[in-house]
Amino acid sequence: MTRKSYEVQQSEQIANDIEGYLYEQEHKSFLRFITCGSVDDGKSTLIGRLLYDSKLIFEDQLASLENDSKKVGTQGGDMDFALLVDGLAAEREQGITIDVAYRFFATDKRKFIVADTPGHEQYTRNMATGASSADVAVILIDARRGVLTQTRRHSYIVNLLGIRHAVVAINKMDLVDYAQETFQGIEQEYREFASNLNFESITFVPMSALKGDNIMDASTNMDWYDGPTLMAVLENIDVSKETSDDVFRMPVQWVNRPNLDFRGFSGTIASGTIKPGDKVIALPSAKTSVVKSIVTYDGEMTVAVADQAVTITLEDEIDISRGDVLAEFDHRPEATDQFHASIIWMHDQPLLPGRPYLIKTTNKTVAGEVTELKHKVNINSLEHEAGKTLELNEVGVCNLSLDETIVFEPYADNPALGSFIMIDKITNVTVAAGMIDFGLRRATNVHWQAVDVHKEARATQKKQKPVVLWFTGLSASGKSTIANLVEKKLHSLGKHTYLLDGDNVRHGLNKDLGFIDADRVENIRRVGEVAKLMVDAGLIVLTAFISPFCAERRMVRDMMEDHEFLEVFVDTPIEICEQRDPKGLYKKARSGEIKNFTGFDSPYERPERADIHLHTGNMTAEAAAEAVIAKIEETYLTS
Ligand code: ADX
Repeated sequence: MTRKSYEVQQSEQIANDIEGYLYEQEHKSFLRFITCGSVDDGKSTLIGRLLYDSKLIFEDQLASLENDSKKVGTQGGDMDFALLVDGLAAEREQGITIDVAYRFFATDKRKFIVADTPGHEQYTRNMATGASSADVAVILIDARRGVLTQTRRHSYIVNLLGIRHAVVAINKMDLVDYAQETFQGIEQEYREFASNLNFESITFVPMSALKGDNIMDASTNMDWYDGPTLMAVLENIDVSKETSDDVFRMPVQWVNRPNLDFRGFSGTIASGTIKPGDKVIALPSAKTSVVKSIVTYDGEMTVAVADQAVTITLEDEIDISRGDVLAEFDHRPEATDQFHASIIWMHDQPLLPGRPYLIKTTNKTVAGEVTELKHKVNINSLEHEAGKTLELNEVGVCNLSLDETIVFEPYADNPALGSFIMIDKITNVTVAAGMIDFGLRRATNVHWQAVDVHKEARATQKKQKPVVLWFTGLSASGKSTIANLVEKKLHSLGKHTYLLDGDNVRHGLNKDLGFIDADRVENIRRVGEVAKLMVDAGLIVLTAFISPFCAERRMVRDMMEDHEFLEVFVDTPIEICEQRDPKGLYKKARSGEIKNFTGFDSPYERPERADIHLHTGNMTAEAAAEAVIAKIEETYLTS
């Protein structure tokens, strides 16, 4: 069926029965689904056939429909493309191209949006993006290959993202002679696996996308199957949720203040309904007020519901800013800076607990870190496995700690307030998607204790400016030697100092840590905290750690106040380090006796703009130490 003939057919109906046409179009329900499968499972063929056989509306029309629905806004449960395309909107704002094609088609009974995502293993991110807004997942299985790891991974992820209905489309039945046993075998295996997930419904359809069996019309090749065709499943599946009990929440996207007489809070209602006169609370401030009016471009509303974009004005002048949440007074969401969450890792570079990432929730971006990876989930067996990091496509359960309090709800109760993405601070790339399970209250019981003798008082007494001289460089580059000389000079000048050295600290405080990336991150995190305490004590702190990653050096810098951190790059070529090899470690690394050795099979990220850059290839340790003293003399050593 071509576009023209669709239009002809459409215009005939419009000419003959315009009222009926409009009524039908307006009242058709709307289903969002995602197809998942491996590369060769026949996804494109299936989507092509659905579009073709259902007299599609072509993609170019999708663009204008999308614009229209954005302009018009949503009405009740009616079609809203913006909603669909906005899945993981935060990620889109990141400017990352996600390879998800949304296609629109309609039958007499329903309108459909299908999120078509590339099937390669590394594209979990695309799939998760598509899944975040879908009602149903169509999971394609090649009848010849059965349930694959990929099938399990996709099923697990769509379930984790809250899709409640799975349709398992067992494709290419023509290539297995339409054998009932093959179908039943796969159904049984899948059911066993899925018994540990919590789909509300799972429907199995044997089909051939290529031949058309059981897509639109019942197959004549599989008389043993008396279930519905795939299209019949999609047309009839009931995905409605009981939403009337949902409580009101609206993250404030911006404070609308065109003039002094008007102050409104704009955002998209995440859940529930609201009307003038309702009592609301703003979080995290916990200030309360009453809704005065609900304003939109089309005038004031008497009631507004989930997914609508509105501006709310209040009876009282209370302080609310972007990122706060307006909520029903009697049922307030929680606010926390620590929570328990599931995350799907989506980047080639593994998760490093302790490394600061940006955590972006629906309307707020704060720095935070994974404080503990509790376990990984084995996608095949769904068993819990121990692990120190998460690799690409792995799923883990962890505790997170944020630098600021956020307002949230568990993802299971409210996906909008319970989901987040993690962004690499340096590259700005989205590295994970997360679902909050629950908040951890621990942190809220720990308060800063005020002290009377403070940093300035201690520093003044010592007649010095506290600072960290952070030496970084390869093993045997001369960090410890130079730091030691600098400390001696400072000491003889009457300065109060302390030298934290990698090898020494690893005998005590950090003796539980090895040399994999995750351990190096934790090593630097702890040393950073200790250095910060020492700066607080008024000391000049010298540290000598390889500290191979930019992210952690930057993290320590960010922990300190301005001018309290100086990065000293001991830039010795690796050949020279290897010639020196005081501990014989390079020799061992070359022979393969030790693993993860910096400069060999573990990276060293050179500082791009060190505060002090020592080219030690052609200078003695003594001269290097002098150079450091000369650099800091004026600012730090003169009282
Ligand atoms: S860091 O990477 O975590 O900053 P750190 O400075 O604490 O490393 O420790 C480095 C010291 O540990 C090296 O100087 C060396 O003596 C020793 N060492 C032992 N194994 C390794 C390894 N695989 N890589 C680097 N250093 C190692």
